[in-house]
Amino acid sequence: MAMLLITHDLAVVSGMADQVALMYAGQIVEVASAADFFLHPSHPYAKLLLQALPGADLRGRQLAAIQGTVPPLTQVFKACRFAPRCPFQKPVCFEKPIAMQLLSDSHQVRCIRANDASLQSLSLPPLLARADEVSTDHSLLLSVKNLSVTYDLGGGFFSQRHQFEAVKQVSFDIQKGQTLALVGESGCGKTSIGKALLQLLTPQTKVQGQALLQGQDLFQLNRQALTVARKQIQIIFQNPFASLNPRMRVQEILEEGMKSLHPEWDADKRMNDLSLLLTQVGLLPEALERYPHEFSGGQRQRIAIARALAVKPSLIICDEPTSALDVSVQAQILNLLKELQEVLGVSYLFVTHNMGVVSYLADKLAVMHEGQIVEMGHAEEILNNPQNSYTKSLLASVPQLNQSWA
Ligand SMILES: Nc1ncnc2c1ncn2[C@@H]1O[C@H](COP(=O)(O)OP(=O)(O)OP(=O)(O)O)[C@@H](O)[C@H]1O
Ligand SMILES: [Mg+2]
Repeated sequence: MAMLLITHDLAVVSGMADQVALMYAGQIVEVASAADFFLHPSHPYAKLLLQALPGADLRGRQLAAIQGTVPPLTQVFKACRFAPRCPFQKPVCFEKPIAMQLLSDSHQVRCIRANDASLQSLSLPPLLARADEVSTDHSLLLSVKNLSVTYDLGGGFFSQRHQFEAVKQVSFDIQKGQTLALVGESGCGKTSIGKALLQLLTPQTKVQGQALLQGQDLFQLNRQALTVARKQIQIIFQNPFASLNPRMRVQEILEEGMKSLHPEWDADKRMNDLSLLLTQVGLLPEALERYPHEFSGGQRQRIAIARALAVKPSLIICDEPTSALDVSVQAQILNLLKELQEVLGVSYLFVTHNMGVVSYLADKLAVMHEGQIVEMGHAEEILNNPQNSYTKSLLASVPQLNQSWA
């Protein structure tokens, strides 16, 4: 049976497709057999996309981020549509429309430089920026012990109350300046753990266990002590379109947490910090005056990261922060999170479905299944040599860029 698969997930393409047609701004720019596409990507857009995918081989390097954005399709195109973003652009690329060039019977590319030898070997992307003094303090930051989360599903009075234990006796540690990735199928309890740590769950939800932040149990703190502890843990959600208040300007969004958690900071201090934050996350100062709807998904996620950083946390819970973003924008955000970790020494609890992301940035990995952690350890060891049968089936079911192409 023939199948037309439409996706932006290149790992899925690699696992399933025989033929690949790559589109950019409403045009097909490369058609090839899957083997040719993954072994000899020839359009600059294809080359960059493949280098934007996180994976163990690019650990410590910047992922390729394609500058700029896809042009609106309402405009009239007179030349190569990718040229304004192309690192290999030449004046001729801006002069006339580009026809498909035939590289072989099964491989066509819409690029006048497709046969150009200098394009054939794209060098490895540069190393990530490193702090002048890399912090080597990897002492214990957070120790979660026997955490259980039980939701109240209603009922009562005449009928029995229904309860559902979404997280069961989960324990893990996070060290300073390190990343623990949390993976597991949908509904296994990952977000519930993040919300329990931040105490964002309703009072009807029962949270048991301990969450020791530098020795202090978050679940035992009184209101005042909790406010102090809240400065230390922030969260970035999956959907940058829903997580920012549309009625607030970016400045208000960023200052909200600063004002409530750091009332001792005056307006000058906040403004100083804000301009530094914007530079750190790669936004222009004008952004402060604008509303979230004026930004792209990737830019909104930068605002969410700036909001989290604004209160100077030691731990950020990243709940699938890049799953709503396309590959190149995901690359920009992962580069940013990794560089911020280098420079600021912040720790991440990183919830993701993407094993490429895990192998690119995680130090430790915890695999969850039906509310429990079934395997935990060094990310690389687990990915290369899983011991638990659920981990094995999870890794086997994840489409990966076919090793035979690599
Ligand atoms: N407020 C709630 N009330 C009742 N049940 C809930 C509530 N929130 C989550 N659950 C249930 O708890 C379980 C764990 O949910 P959770 O959101 O933690 O999963 P997850 O691992 O983050 O999933 P996903 O990968 O889809 O985001 C699910 O079965 C979910 O239906
Ligand atoms: Mg979730």
